Amino acid sequence: MGAAIPTRAMPTVIAHRGAADDAPENTLAAFKLAWQQGADGIEGDFRLTRDGEIVCIHDADTRRTAGQAGQVAEATLAELRQLDVGSWKGEPWRGARIPTLGEVLATVPEGKRVFIEIKCGPRILPALKEALAGAGLQPGQAIVMSFDARVTGEAKRLLPRLKALWLTDFKAGPEAGVRPSAKEILQTLEKIGADGVGCRAHPVVDQAFMQALRAAQKEIHLWTVDDVALAKRYLQLGVDSLTSNRAGWLKRQLCSEAGPPNRTPNRASGHSR
Ligand code: G3P
Ligand code: CA
Repeated sequence: MGAAIPTRAMPTVIAHRGAADDAPENTLAAFKLAWQQGADGIEGDFRLTRDGEIVCIHDADTRRTAGQAGQVAEATLAELRQLDVGSWKGEPWRGARIPTLGEVLATVPEGKRVFIEIKCGPRILPALKEALAGAGLQPGQAIVMSFDARVTGEAKRLLPRLKALWLTDFKAGPEAGVRPSAKEILQTLEKIGADGVGCRAHPVVDQAFMQALRAAQKEIHLWTVDDVALAKRYLQLGVDSLTSNRAGWLKRQLCSEAGPPNRTPNRASGHSR
């Protein structure tokens, strides 16, 4: 590992689905562990239940994390609460339950941030507004984001003071290179009034990409970075945050003058990336 990142460029490292390498993703145990490990923020995935509650779960179906098939959107909160979403990760986590958005927000310490990824349509937004109103967070602590530009745009209209990001991945086009380009991303951000983009850490994110978005005062947040060398590359470009499955560990490596050699990501962790 080379020299540490200068202090002024110190990273904001966000725990992807909580401390997802060490605890069952999107559970209160994973979020609380992320705070203990020193993450600057947490990221979680949120969906609306049949009875209008907001719950924290990545997949539309409960099979992967609860071992039992069922659509989140067709279940009530009480039904979802019966499920054990901890055992798949290991015996110490047996009995972990799907948390509500309110419960997740209540874990956020002063000065830390929560990235709320909406995994369903805009019907969730009034309940989101209510949950945020009841959470007592300071301005800037909560950020909402979605791969669905319509959801990000509507969130921004409903909650203009809330920071809102559009999420996108990159795909190699048949002719025109990787898409969306910085120009295309910017067009979408302007159209929906988003504050920035959350995108996969990809070689297409380079100096020119950064400059194009910075010129329009847009933020750039990257997921999912579990590798020190990669993290350094993007921090040197000046991204706003990195989301990681091992945020505490990554932050420690980046902050240390002479940390250990880069570690191979834990491929056996079981969460989809
Ligand atoms: O931060 C965005 C990132 O979490 C999107 O990917 O599939 O892990 O929700 P996913
Ligand atoms: Ca997510």
